[in-house]
Amino acid sequence: MKITVCVGSSCHVKGSKAVVDTFKRLIEEKNLQDKIELGGTFCLGKCQDGVCLEIEGKVYSVTGETAEKFFEEEVMGAL
Ligand code: FES
Repeated sequence: MKITVCVGSSCHVKGSKAVVDTFKRLIEEKNLQDKIELGGTFCLGKCQDGVCLEIEGKVYSVTGETAEKFFEEEVMGAL
């Protein structure tokens, strides 16, 4: 699975680094390095919904606070 987090300026301001850091930590904790590829992208065109991220062509909206819950539900649920 490939997770691409928007690091465009709007999402950056809204905390994309916190989202990426949370995902990185969870991937390590759960030993998912060979299952999940974490990447960055520039603006996904939905700045008002930031922090935006894309999985399998679908765009989701998360924040630093909801990143862990999102990972547990959406990412773990889809693996
Ligand atoms: S900066 Fe992330 S969607 Fe525009």
